[in-house]
Amino acid sequence: MKTTLFSIFLLVLGGSKIAVTELAESRTNTLPNSQIYYKSDQYQEVQEILNGKCVSCHSGPAAARGLELDSWEHILAGSKHGEALIPFDAERSLLSEITTKLVGGPHPEELGEPGLTDDEKSFLNNWIDRGAPSREGLIAFADAEHLLYAANQGDALISVIDMESNLVIRTVDLQELGFSANAQPHHIAVEPDGSYWYVSLISDNAILKFDRSNTLIDKLTFERPGLLALDPNTNKLYAGRSMAAVSPPQTIGIIDRSGMDLEEMGVFFPRPHALAVEPESGAVYTASLAANQIATLYPEDESIELFTMGGEKMHTIVQFAVSPDGQWMAGTTELTSSIFLFDLTKNIETGPVDTILVNSAPWHPSFTPDGQWIYAGNNRENTVSVVDMNSRTLVKVIEGNGLSQPHGSATSHDGRYVYISNRNLETPGMQMNSSSSGITLPSGKTGYQPRYDLGDNSQIGTVVVIDIYSQSIVKVIEIEKYGSGLGASRAN
Ligand code: HEC
Repeated sequence: MKTTLFSIFLLVLGGSKIAVTELAESRTNTLPNSQIYYKSDQYQEVQEILNGKCVSCHSGPAAARGLELDSWEHILAGSKHGEALIPFDAERSLLSEITTKLVGGPHPEELGEPGLTDDEKSFLNNWIDRGAPSREGLIAFADAEHLLYAANQGDALISVIDMESNLVIRTVDLQELGFSANAQPHHIAVEPDGSYWYVSLISDNAILKFDRSNTLIDKLTFERPGLLALDPNTNKLYAGRSMAAVSPPQTIGIIDRSGMDLEEMGVFFPRPHALAVEPESGAVYTASLAANQIATLYPEDESIELFTMGGEKMHTIVQFAVSPDGQWMAGTTELTSSIFLFDLTKNIETGPVDTILVNSAPWHPSFTPDGQWIYAGNNRENTVSVVDMNSRTLVKVIEGNGLSQPHGSATSHDGRYVYISNRNLETPGMQMNSSSSGITLPSGKTGYQPRYDLGDNSQIGTVVVIDIYSQSIVKVIEIEKYGSGLGASRAN
């Protein structure tokens, strides 16, 4: 306590203007509050509380659930199922929730063991809300390098996941920044070096720019934004329109992302949704949800080419992905459950070079970094389709716990993992094809059941981690409501 007061005193003496500038600079390229604030005996007291009431079951090789609570490093590592705490967010930390909200009695009282007193709970929460600093004052996960951002569309919240440990390490609560509870964050684009990230808010009609420390830098107004795509070779960020918008403007947003200046470019068809950039040429591809039409935009000279696909059937292209070498573009179709494959070295007007049948309603596709596989969650089936680019066929359908209305996708920079976000809404009356998911809730609905019943979390979303080598699910990360778009930094 003395140390804290002393440093505040120094700050005031030294002139707050300088201190604030230094703070702002030191925050660039770091996670929130990564600087060492003060040395603290707060952690020491936290450890004493845990030693007294938790460590008897939570230490060593036989630790309950594999969760060890006997050191700072172990607490941060969580269990193999997930994090025990999210720095700066006690409210959404399992360690806090399980000891207060667990249905059937707070933990560990439900096991007949003495639980935490109210004072101990608020002491722990206070520590977590200050970033769970170590004895030396280090902030938890301040040095995480490769970050995955998951939009929680039902919760006005972004979950930040460390792709090394696959733990949620930060949350960004949009309501705390003045946005509405129904802001509906939808999709996220990240600078290749991870320095900034952008998120579309469907209902708040806005696109926001954050820095790496999750400080809101800038924002602009855009009607019903949906998907975002960023050109790594220019300053341009592109924005399409949300599926939720029935008749949005027939334009795409072209954003100069350094100053967040917006221009709109007409696409001459209704409901432009899918969006991808081919970085070599700078060409931008978008497709209509309401017509079998694809537009190629050349922002350099502001020209546009339209392509209408033949045939009677409505396809409803959901999203595009461009292969890492820039040659291929995959487009998932909601109504015909296919992946259209375009050869971008040829004019789009020659049509797809392949139409690969996959499982029901493939959503956001991702190429793996080696270009060999395409992954797409099947939004109406709780499965993930895996397409082999060599044979250009569906080679595997992944199923398992955690997949529930899969939506977004992303890959880790090192080619180890594919991430699939899941809505898990279970809206009454929603048609869910359970034939291949095999996951049934007691109510008869399919979906993901959270590991702990905390009274208010039956509909939480997930991010499922798939190992690319074994093509199997290795982890289910619980996030908040309605996992939608994912965005990952690409830098090594
Ligand atoms: C009597 C043994 C015991 C004690 C004491 C105990 N726990 Fe647990 N803990 C368990 C068991 C068993 C589980 C698994 C719960 C289940 O299977 O329902 C668990 C699960 C947890 C989890 C969830 C881990 C995960 O990732 O699934 C957390 C967090 C946790 N305990 C925190 C605590 C805290 C904090 C304390 C002290 C206040 C504590 N526990 C005390 C036995 C104990």
